[in-house]
Amino acid sequence: MDLVKQDSKYLMNTYKKNVCLEYGIGCHVFDNTGKKYLDLTGGIATCSIGHSNPKLVKAIANQAGKMINSTNLFYSVPQIELAKKLSKLSGLSKCFFCNSGTEAVEAAIKLAKKHTGKSKIIAMKNGFHGRTLGSLSATWNPKFKEKFKPLMPGFEHVEFGSIEALESKIDKNTAAVILEPIQGEAGVIMPPEGYLKEVEKLCKENNVLMVVDEIQTGCGRTGKFFCFQHENISPDIVTVAKGIANGLPLGAVISRKGIDFDPGDHGSTFGGNSLCCTASLKTIELIEKVLPQVEEKGKYFFTKLESIDSSKVKEVRGKGLMLALELNEGAKKVSEECAKNGLLVNCIHGNILRFLPTLTMTKKEIDFAVQTLKKAISPEGNKND
Ligand SMILES: Cc1ncc(COP(=O)(O)O)c(C=O)c1O
Repeated sequence: MDLVKQDSKYLMNTYKKNVCLEYGIGCHVFDNTGKKYLDLTGGIATCSIGHSNPKLVKAIANQAGKMINSTNLFYSVPQIELAKKLSKLSGLSKCFFCNSGTEAVEAAIKLAKKHTGKSKIIAMKNGFHGRTLGSLSATWNPKFKEKFKPLMPGFEHVEFGSIEALESKIDKNTAAVILEPIQGEAGVIMPPEGYLKEVEKLCKENNVLMVVDEIQTGCGRTGKFFCFQHENISPDIVTVAKGIANGLPLGAVISRKGIDFDPGDHGSTFGGNSLCCTASLKTIELIEKVLPQVEEKGKYFFTKLESIDSSKVKEVRGKGLMLALELNEGAKKVSEECAKNGLLVNCIHGNILRFLPTLTMTKKEIDFAVQTLKKAISPEGNKND
């Protein structure tokens, strides 16, 4: 089959693709010619505990044989167990389940409006919260929004990292502030130290809800289950998705005590189905096993990336296993060269290579990744080799 032709004939033109992946084992994936790659894309942060984890496969198969979706018309033990687990992990109170990140953000926006009776939402410049119309209104990049206007009214964007900018926009009609603890789609942009704590304080002083979007940073990615936990804060609402069920479609919005919907306010036919909730419970159990090593592995990876001695390297940034290498030039070429040499890396915004590997990646695999990157960046050789 001519994949390129067939794909462009039958699939809408939303993503640029290169290789065709057929299966994965742990941190590795294999294409349709049998070629093996170390996967630093990690299913765009969905593959927390590795591809085809046998314990997860077994849990999914067992549940599929019992019940896939009993729907929200009935009680579901996996759904209640998962809500209990996420509430405990986040220090919050209640969950609503959906099927993706953008839906979790939609639910968070509705919840914030409903709870406060106010309509203004402040989001961050360079922030990303999804592509459905409500979430897209919170997303910043004008490139994603222009063709779909008018979007939802009431959204304003301020400089990420500037507490003064945020303070100047908060008024009596502000329901919530929504932000990522680290801006993932923007290229792994870190806020200044202490910024989240200051946002929390400002929100509390002004009776504004703090919504933390942990869709990319959550599920152990940065070394704690939720990234906001590095700063010891208590948001009012948290959104999660991506890594929560190791690639199965599941999202959740988790809220502080007293922030809740009423019957009919919101819903989802597939949201919180037994299959995804069972997969998520097993995924979280397995994340908790590897979580204590994520920070150290991330530091190891970070230091190795910093050792790449090339004038092409502009900056290494990130936390845990959410890292980026910004180049001055040629990142696309580097990612293509890496793929030829058995390493999949995601190139974003022209010159940023973003790494969201499975949390199970070993130091030996990190060494292979950095060696391959080094060769692709400086084919003529590296002083530190
Ligand atoms: C922080 C953040 N929020 C929301 C989303 C949207 O998630 P989804 O693609 O599952 O709708 C993403 C996806 O990249 C994200 O990184």
